[in-house]
Amino acid sequence: MIDRPAAMRPSPHRTPELLLALLALAAQASAQQTPALWPWPRSVKVSPELLNIAPENFLISHGPNSTADPSCSLLQEAFRRYYKYIFGFYKRHHGPANFQGGAQLEQLQVSVTLQSQCDSFPTVSSDESYSLLVQGPVAFLKANRVWGALRGLETFSQLVYQDSYGAFTINRSIITDSPRFAHRGILIDTSRHYLPVKTILKTLDAMAFNKFNVLHWHIVDDPSFPYQSTAFPELSNKGSYSLSHVYTPRDVHKVVEYARFRGIRIIPEFDTPGHTQSWGKGQKDLLTPCYIEKKETERVGPINPTLNTTYTFFNTFFNEISSVFPDEFIHLGGDEVDFQCWSSNPNIQDFMQKKGFGKNFKRLESFYIKNILDIITSLKKGSIVWQELFDDNVELRTDTVVEVWKNENYLANLKEVTSSGFKAILSAPWYLDIISYGQDWETYYTVQPLKFDGSRKQKQLVIGGEACLWGEYVDATNLNPRLWPRASAVGERLWSPETVIDVDDAYSRLVRHRCRMVSRGIAAQPLYTGHCGH
Ligand SMILES: *[C@@H]1O[C@H](CO)[C@@H](O)[C@H](O)[C@H]1NC(C)=O
Ligand SMILES: *[C@@H]1O[C@H](CO)[C@@H](O)[C@H](O)[C@H]1NC(C)=O
Ligand SMILES: *[C@@H]1O[C@H](CO)[C@@H](O)[C@H](O)[C@H]1NC(C)=O
Repeated sequence: MIDRPAAMRPSPHRTPELLLALLALAAQASAQQTPALWPWPRSVKVSPELLNIAPENFLISHGPNSTADPSCSLLQEAFRRYYKYIFGFYKRHHGPANFQGGAQLEQLQVSVTLQSQCDSFPTVSSDESYSLLVQGPVAFLKANRVWGALRGLETFSQLVYQDSYGAFTINRSIITDSPRFAHRGILIDTSRHYLPVKTILKTLDAMAFNKFNVLHWHIVDDPSFPYQSTAFPELSNKGSYSLSHVYTPRDVHKVVEYARFRGIRIIPEFDTPGHTQSWGKGQKDLLTPCYIEKKETERVGPINPTLNTTYTFFNTFFNEISSVFPDEFIHLGGDEVDFQCWSSNPNIQDFMQKKGFGKNFKRLESFYIKNILDIITSLKKGSIVWQELFDDNVELRTDTVVEVWKNENYLANLKEVTSSGFKAILSAPWYLDIISYGQDWETYYTVQPLKFDGSRKQKQLVIGGEACLWGEYVDATNLNPRLWPRASAVGERLWSPETVIDVDDAYSRLVRHRCRMVSRGIAAQPLYTGHCGH
């Protein structure tokens, strides 16, 4: 139904420069006329009939049949936000402060009806479905849960545009929508570079514009330990880049709340037993001393899995984490464990002998992970792990979620993981830290996560995916330009039906979606030559 200029996606190596410029202009011209929905909803019917909206009189409110508590702060806050997104910096000269206006003909209002009370935290099984009936004088947004209402408000805001006279306009339309995958994540890495809290909040804003619902917070790693622990303050005192490069309990709470208000889960990752150099600075005996020719060196390796003190430490540590981060899942990492240091250490060798592990360090890894998983289970949390633990045949609980990140043959990996009955998250084709010249969003967009040979039940075990932005070359200066709109391509792949695959259509919408993000304060980089309407 949405009309679009045909074939305007530039392909820099085939099309002459001038033609490209004209095509880009055509895209921009249409950008100002029609709204660009992103990600594309399950079902969209748009009519040519137009309605006007006057900012002075526009009202978003609970419908008469809404069963949600009118004081539901998630909704009240969302109403306030979306009013701003829709009308931008429009100044209300004499409008009332609370958007409550007199009813006038043809001036649209939005009535939001919720079939439930205001939920507290989003989960992996949150219902994000909604329906939107845009008609005069009242548009109806219906959702079973507040999470669907948030997604529907985003869609509604994307439908509104300013006509050539500057009037706020919307086409009559009917939209029904729900996500294809339940887990739609962005990974940020705050160990390789510290990201200020306000940068993380900006990212959460942009995630909501793209209907992402998980921030995978790879919070600590080898280079630095910015998480400030209450039980073990020395971890960040000694392990962070500096005493100001830390996330205090207040900071973490702020991020968790900000995310909750946007229907986004925060899943922290505490990656062990590898990638833990920064832990060792503030916690004695946690890491394994490495040996050279039977002599202890200054070097340390992965977590020492042979000491009881290790597990006492993690018991207390994860106890704290499980209450600081309310999500039902903790990411336990488990990737890229270097066995060399373990194998050099005579105490570890003795331990292996006693346990009957022989020289099989995967069994030692397995022993360690089993202990950690037991701790997590005792705290009534679920676990997500990187695929190595599955690949290495580490004994996992059946409800562990496996994240597939190795790019070679990831569909075969998904097949294996799901045929063993584990749930899977795909991130392999979406490592956004790897950059190249040109329109790499297309390669993210055209990924088909379920295109492996497997049963229906197996495909249902693929619960979603993540766009990962590792931090070697990323800090606050370039995080958002590098993420957006490249991650938007992943966002649509994970939200929209699998039939939504037209790259030309996606390009024309993405150009406008990117401009919309810029107008909402996200420093999203351009897709190609052109300009934004505002
Ligand atoms: C919205 O209405 C206008 C004016 O009738 C029409 O030109 C346009 O095609 C409609 N938009 C869509 C997406 O159908
Ligand atoms: C509210 O419920 C009544 C009775 O079920 C129905 O007639 C009416 O259309 C509903 N209003 C809205 C806004 O859904
Ligand atoms: C470590 O704990 C195990 C199991 O509780 C126990 O058998 C062992 O003696 C402990 N080792 C030390 C050195 O305390």
